Amino acid sequence: SKKAVWGPLVGAVDQGTSSTRFLVFNSKTAELLSHHQVEIKQEFPREGWVEQDPKEILHSVYECIEKTCEKLGQLNIDISNIKAIGVSNQRETTVVWDKITGEPLYNAVVWLDLRTQSTVESLSKRIPGNNNFVKSKTGLPLSTYFSAVKLHWLLDNVRKVQKAVEDKRALFGTIDSWLIWSLTGGVSGGVHCTDVTNASRTMLFNIHSLEWDKQLCDFFGIPMEILPNVRSSSEIYGLMKAGALEGVPISGCLGDQSAALVGQMCFQIGEAKNTYGTGCFLLCNTGHKCVFSDHGLLTTVAYKLGRDKPVYYALEGSVAIAGAVVRWLRDNLGIIKTSEEIEKLAKEVGTSYGCYFVPAFSGLYAPYWEPSARGIICGLTQFTNKCHIAFAALEAVCFQTREILDAMNRDCGIPLSHLQVDGGMTSNKILMQLQADILCIPVVKPSMPETTALGAAMAAGAAEGVNVWSLEPEDLSAVTMERFEPQINAEESEIRYSTWKKAVMKSMGWVT
Ligand code: G3P
Repeated sequence: SKKAVWGPLVGAVDQGTSSTRFLVFNSKTAELLSHHQVEIKQEFPREGWVEQDPKEILHSVYECIEKTCEKLGQLNIDISNIKAIGVSNQRETTVVWDKITGEPLYNAVVWLDLRTQSTVESLSKRIPGNNNFVKSKTGLPLSTYFSAVKLHWLLDNVRKVQKAVEDKRALFGTIDSWLIWSLTGGVSGGVHCTDVTNASRTMLFNIHSLEWDKQLCDFFGIPMEILPNVRSSSEIYGLMKAGALEGVPISGCLGDQSAALVGQMCFQIGEAKNTYGTGCFLLCNTGHKCVFSDHGLLTTVAYKLGRDKPVYYALEGSVAIAGAVVRWLRDNLGIIKTSEEIEKLAKEVGTSYGCYFVPAFSGLYAPYWEPSARGIICGLTQFTNKCHIAFAALEAVCFQTREILDAMNRDCGIPLSHLQVDGGMTSNKILMQLQADILCIPVVKPSMPETTALGAAMAAGAAEGVNVWSLEPEDLSAVTMERFEPQINAEESEIRYSTWKKAVMKSMGWVT
């Protein structure tokens, strides 16, 4: 049959911690036409360790691209209309591979991984001069979260990595670099690059000069020749070398949280979004200025949409465990069979009945930055059942967001009047209502929740040489929104929040 006529389309890879997706958008209307999603395995070889297989991640990307193209074919849409591809990815996760064989030299060390806790402790004792050295250059606290310490660990502990560095065969990258290098040809001419947003999460990148920082690399013992080239978030990096989209330029690259900020059109100073994925990340655009937090938030690169375009920064509140707590209830406790089931359980009771769940599985991130914290479930009675625990798990996501929103309001001076949200968990209506209740402000969600992929597609479509997506404000057509208004009074909300704080204190005192 005759194929329908379409304007230019743009594809986006969204490689998150829990799953990979490929999505295709109409560049004129931002309409999502088709997508495919594949869940990604996580390995926990020891307590606190979290790894993934870089090859599985790469294959999942190819699989999602192929399946999405098949679905487009079924819709009678010609895939030759796809003019560009953007990449957004879980940030910080660290891969080292051999550029001659194309083989990863170790599993990807995932951002949640805690193996570097003692490295962080000993490095923090060695910080030269004033102990603001790392933070003032990178915007980040010295933590297990960021790539530099993971890479330091790989260089110290994995013989294959050491040998490849000696033989000048090693390449380092976060997931974006690993994917772009592989997709643009790998061993036969793959492009080794990253963008400023991903680079800003490595702890080796100077967020003022937008370059790798020699002093930081020396401090963490990282040979600079293994680092990727740093590019803007919107420019042609290379062409797809294989598969259904062979020859299509990859022209957008953003860490997933930056991509969501772009996808939610938060282009003005003070505009913010909160994404509920494996973790939960609230980013607020601070314009061309690096704002440093006094309340445990990070300063990070928001985006730079073109080689000659200015850089934008963001303040970020990072929560390590959000969707991951639902996966834990499914995989570790087995009290739900699918992630969606949690909503049904929580709805059955409508309360945690005094049960509080602090899912500090990877320590606590913002605003505490306490790697030794551990998860606790407290306030149990014989009356407590799995529904209450499910409810407490959802409430934990909301309380953690409240903590970072409070910090953000203090740092910015002007409290947010509403919270723009996105991400997989936002389809859970109980969670969204709870979030509005706990924050005491409305929660607003776009009807198309795939804003991370949308941001990557926008960056790819707007790149010089592609030019199929205009980022001018008039083109950002009004997005339909769903709104959740607070339904409990502020006093009740405060009481619950202060009990949550007590539970957090207990989780922090757990390991001394
Ligand atoms: O910093 C980690 C973050 O990028 C992970 O995102 O979507 O996998 O929770 P997500």
